Amino acid sequence: MKDCIKVGLIGLGTVGGGVARVLLENEKNLGARAGVPIRLVKITTLVMKNPLPFPLADGVLTSDVNDILDNPEIDVVVECIGGVGAALEFARRALKSGKHFVTPNKELIAKFGAELLELARQNGVNLCYEASVAGGIPIIHGLKNNLAADNVRKLFGILNGTTNYILDKMTQEGAEFADALAQAQELGYAEANPTNDVDGYDVAYKLSILAGIAFNTAFRFEDIHFEGIRNVSASDIAFAKRLGYVIKLIATGVDRGAAGVELRVHPTMVPVEHPLANVGGAFNAVFVEGDYIGQAMFYGPGAGSLPTASAVAGDVVDIAMNHEIAHSHPSMTTNFGLRKSVPIGEVSCEYYLRLSVKDQAGVLAQIATICGDLGVSLKNVEQPEAEGGNAELILITHPVREAAMQEAIARMGKLPVVNKVESLIRVGLA
Ligand code: HSE
Repeated sequence: MKDCIKVGLIGLGTVGGGVARVLLENEKNLGARAGVPIRLVKITTLVMKNPLPFPLADGVLTSDVNDILDNPEIDVVVECIGGVGAALEFARRALKSGKHFVTPNKELIAKFGAELLELARQNGVNLCYEASVAGGIPIIHGLKNNLAADNVRKLFGILNGTTNYILDKMTQEGAEFADALAQAQELGYAEANPTNDVDGYDVAYKLSILAGIAFNTAFRFEDIHFEGIRNVSASDIAFAKRLGYVIKLIATGVDRGAAGVELRVHPTMVPVEHPLANVGGAFNAVFVEGDYIGQAMFYGPGAGSLPTASAVAGDVVDIAMNHEIAHSHPSMTTNFGLRKSVPIGEVSCEYYLRLSVKDQAGVLAQIATICGDLGVSLKNVEQPEAEGGNAELILITHPVREAAMQEAIARMGKLPVVNKVESLIRVGLA
């Protein structure tokens, strides 16, 4: 039995700074809950916050990461630097030298989780990443432990606060994407280069992690079809509202049995009465359907220094508890074997399509012919505006295969009477 669990922290930025604060400020309670004292003994950082927001004992701060990775006294390495360059090297070194590893790094786990979990298993240590999905929301432990007796069939997530903030601004204020993005950047939600968030990468990483746990397999990041929110316009949001929907960037994971698992991230029209439609601002939520629990939603802050730090430090406590009973649970995915993902072309759902067309006789007939030829059944057609010889046309389809819908759009785009296919948005959660 150890007299204390020693932690080394790599990175003292937004999340790392929060982790240091929680581990130091709440040290007494963490130790009491773990049954063994937990001490943050080393911190290394390239970017020094001056002055530090909390006092550190002499010798804790170091500029050399080897003071953590080569330090035989350190039991747990916490990585808060992000990316898959140095973070991957540090993870491999820590696990190979028998140290537990904790990270909030979704890209690292989505791309290298299988390799790192195997390393953890070989070395009898834990790899924990609760904060990698939905920040402070305990969704990974929720799925892995608390729903272990259930069979999750579907999950739908709002997993990116930045894009939810932007879409919410557009919904509440009628703002266009560029203006809402600028506001998100001013408030510090969106980064100067917002690609990772607004083009869907961040959500795709998180979905591959969650789906792996929910559906008992290891998905490759390449298995996820993902799109961002750049093409969502104020008009689409206004039409959605009239039709009884809110547009959200939804991560969808659905078990289709022998056909595989649907894994997709894209703007989705969510019925206003669905709980996910009311997740506003920068909040995250995961809506789960299981055989026994029925429907449940996990809701909370998906980012931010202290919410994320709370989840990271929770992993450290979990490791300390396990250490006390000499138990390692590196397999944070219940990996029963490989399952295939359903190709996006095979996915079937309802679609909203907005076209800019010439306002003249026969346009609708030409569009309807394409739909008829491809088996795309129309549920609703509207022509809300016509101006200067041009009109907007809104089509809502019945459920149809994505491949047929894409072919229909390609054919419509070639019609001389169609100025532009403005947008295509999937409708509903199914
Ligand atoms: N940038 C992410 C978000 C948080 O906006 O939700 C970290 O994944």
